[in-house]
Amino acid sequence: MADRLPDADGIIVRGTPIDRALLDGAPRLRFVCRHGVGYDNVDVPALTERGIVLAVTPDANATSVAEHALMLMLALSRRVVDFNAGVRAGNWVVPAESRTSDLAGCTVLIVGLGRIGGRTARLCAAFGMHVLIHDPYVPANTVSALGFEPVPDLAAALGRADIVSLHLPSDGTTRGTVGTAFLAAMKPGSLLVNTARGTLVDEAALEAALRSGHLAGAGLDVIHDEPMRAPIPLLALDSVVVTPHVAASTRQGLRRMALAAAGNTIDFFAGRLNPSAVINRELLADGRQPARG
Ligand SMILES: NC(=O)c1ccc[n+]([C@@H]2O[C@H](COP(=O)([O-])OP(=O)(O)OC[C@H]3O[C@@H](n4cnc5c(N)ncnc54)[C@H](O)[C@@H]3O)[C@@H](O)[C@H]2O)c1
Repeated sequence: MADRLPDADGIIVRGTPIDRALLDGAPRLRFVCRHGVGYDNVDVPALTERGIVLAVTPDANATSVAEHALMLMLALSRRVVDFNAGVRAGNWVVPAESRTSDLAGCTVLIVGLGRIGGRTARLCAAFGMHVLIHDPYVPANTVSALGFEPVPDLAAALGRADIVSLHLPSDGTTRGTVGTAFLAAMKPGSLLVNTARGTLVDEAALEAALRSGHLAGAGLDVIHDEPMRAPIPLLALDSVVVTPHVAASTRQGLRRMALAAAGNTIDFFAGRLNPSAVINRELLADGRQPARG
């Protein structure tokens, strides 16, 4: 990448950090598009200072991630990983006392009612779950109109939910949200699902909550330090199901993200990029984005 940077007018990026050091080597750069929607690997202020527009691929992966969140809820509540491992080991054992649960009738708390949270909420409702929504930036009447229950008081809502599913961005205001206090407020025996970002969660606090039995399980598509170089302590627990940040990466999701990233890049240099895909929209307002590339 370093060899190409001096000539690059635009970059399509997935996980590579886009930081000041990289930007110093890219004097021509005017546009960056994230292949995905999270942009915590991009130094947005540094881009904005240089007048470089950052776009994402909104909606391209929302369906895929929402389905993955449901899959993790089902995997945990139906203990599919344990059962599968048991059968493969030759144990066709139906436990005398069931340790599995239906999703129907459960209460789920969706934290963050954006593109993915909204789809996950609808899937949960279709499964017959009661859906609580905590999102300080979405008006309560909007949540109610969608058929969900708005819960402005996060701590109180945590005590009511059988499953908490995270769908908020990880940034300076939200990093570490799921710490000791958050976990202690969760209902005993409840489940945590994280398909958002690993940095939202204090993994030591989560491990303690699982080891004490306060939480019954955690389904994680993301961890604090990615990629994982050595097994993290959470992997020692059977109550944890982990996937390697693949929620968005179905064949269809990858194709939609690739087409959207390429389309955004073509549109930017043609002066017709849809502003809804842009993160640092102040650049569009102050006219620093050229009308035609
Ligand atoms: N696992 C994956 O492969 C994968 C793929 C795509 C996105 N993601 C992650 O999923 C998350 C959601 O993506 P999206 O496209 O739905 O984003 P989005 O911007 O559409 O939605 C985020 C929502 O979170 C809300 N929010 C912000 N701060 C909040 C807070 N403190 N409490 C509650 N809600 C808050 C916002 O109001 C917004 O409605 C992001 O963290 C993103 O990085 C993960």
